[in-house]
Amino acid sequence: MNQDQLKQAVARAAIDYIAPKLETDSILGIGTGSTANFFIDMLGELKDDFAGAVASSDASASKLKALGITVLDLNEVSELVAYVDGADESNAQLALIKGGGAALTREKIVRAVAREFVCIADESKWVKVLGEFPLPVEVIPMARSYVARELVKLGGDPVYREGVVTDNGNVILDVHNLSIIDPKDLELKINQITGVVANGLFAHQGADVLLLGRRAGVETIYPK
Ligand code: 5RP
Repeated sequence: MNQDQLKQAVARAAIDYIAPKLETDSILGIGTGSTANFFIDMLGELKDDFAGAVASSDASASKLKALGITVLDLNEVSELVAYVDGADESNAQLALIKGGGAALTREKIVRAVAREFVCIADESKWVKVLGEFPLPVEVIPMARSYVARELVKLGGDPVYREGVVTDNGNVILDVHNLSIIDPKDLELKINQITGVVANGLFAHQGADVLLLGRRAGVETIYPK
C-alpha cells in the first residue's frame, strides 16, 4: 500500500466511524489537506444523512459545495457533531502538529466548536516526540520579523513560507529544529508572542481519536 492508499483507507474508516453518529440536523466540521480531501470525496455518500458542514478552508468549502453538501458559516452553528481532519504529526497523547496546508487557525477554531475531533492520518505521521515536522505559526504580516526573533529565543529556527498567504490574509513561519517534549507548554508560550495568530500545536485541544493507516490495517487510537 502506498501513502495515498493509506490515506484512502483512513478516510473510509472515518466514514464508518462518523456515519452512526449523524442525525438529519447534524453539522460536521471538515478539515483541510490531502487526507481530508479523500474523506470529503467519500462524504458525498452520506450527504442526505446530515444537515451540512463547516470547512476549515476555502478549498475544502469549494469541494464540499461541488458535492452538493451545504456549507455553513461557523457563526450560524452552536455545535459540531465532530471535526474530521488530518495532521502532520501525532504523539501518543494525540497532541498534534497541524498547518502543513496553512489552514491551522481555522482548523483550531472549528476544532474548538466540535464535540469530538476525529483525526485521520497515515502511519508516517506517528511520532514519539513532536517537532521533526516544522511547526507552522500563523503571523500578522507586519510582525513577521519580531515573531521570528522571539521563536529563536524559544529554541527554534523559523523559516518564512514564501509566497503563502493564509485564508485570513496572514503569513506562515515554519519553525524547524524543535524537539517538543512539553507540547502544552510550548503551545501557550508561542500564543503569548504578540503578532502570533495561532500555532500548529494542537495539544490543549488535541484529537479525541486517531484513525491511523498502517500497512496491516487501520488502527483506532485513543489518547494515552
Ligand atoms: C492543513 C493540515 C493538514 O491536516 C496536514 O497538513 C496534513 O495534510 P495531509 O493530509 O495532506 O497529509 O493541517 O493545514
